[in-house]
Amino acid sequence: MFLLVHEDREYLRGPGEELQTDLGVLTVPEDAAPGDTLETHLGTTFHVRELRGPDLFDHLDRTGAPMMPRDIGLVVGHTGAAAGDRVLDAGTGTGILSAYLGRIGADVTTYERDPEFAEQARTNMEVAGVADRVDVRTGDLAVEVDELIAEIDDGDTAPFDLLTLDTEDAPTIVRRAPELLAPGGFLSVYSPFVEHTREVVEATRDADLSDVKTFETIQRRMQFDDRGSRPDTAGVGHTGYLTFGRHDF
Ligand SMILES: C[S@@+](CC[C@H](N)C(=O)[O-])C[C@H]1O[C@@H](n2cnc3c(N)ncnc32)[C@H](O)[C@@H]1O
Repeated sequence: MFLLVHEDREYLRGPGEELQTDLGVLTVPEDAAPGDTLETHLGTTFHVRELRGPDLFDHLDRTGAPMMPRDIGLVVGHTGAAAGDRVLDAGTGTGILSAYLGRIGADVTTYERDPEFAEQARTNMEVAGVADRVDVRTGDLAVEVDELIAEIDDGDTAPFDLLTLDTEDAPTIVRRAPELLAPGGFLSVYSPFVEHTREVVEATRDADLSDVKTFETIQRRMQFDDRGSRPDTAGVGHTGYLTFGRHDF
């Protein structure tokens, strides 16, 4: 899949697919490549762009509310997620976090309890080009966790380097984090409300995780115009809370 871009208009299309808009009609050639320029029958040009993380955030079909790119940046920054890391994620939702982690080369196992959401997430991973790195499993991680831990204990599955949670029941799974994580592995939990965050922090204490830190995530976009420069007055820069912890031994 590529993005076809003309000024501020962007469309997702694959090789052989047609784009029909008021700017004209074009068919994406089978051998199209990023950087190519395509022309509609009315002579309007579109640039072919490879899909990268922010494009996935803007264009993948959404189910569960996706994590914001800035929050994903904090997850990667605070956990050092890297190529080759084994990540356990829940819930998949739209799959934005999973797709970003797949794009940096991590191997992600992600659980989504809603079968239709899981199916959409599998399609999204194909579009993102990470279906070989992101295994979307239909299931409730809170239910599946015993079986996963048994597989780790039996040596059938390696423990995970990173556990990322974006679910209401995250505290339940946080209590099992030491059984899921490799020594030195990280936990990251996204919470939309401060009450939930407190429950998560209490669960990290029950689980004896170290280096527990919680951040409110706020980002202010800047405006630069003829009158001056200042933070954007539209919208609030708050998205939620991120809690990190580490399994030492
Ligand atoms: C906010 S969305 C996650 C968005 C995702 N982080 C992203 O970046 O696109 C939460 C999703 O978790 C799923 N979910 C909630 N609890 C779950 C659980 N225990 N196991 C698996 N999925 C769960 C919900 O169905 C929902 O789709």
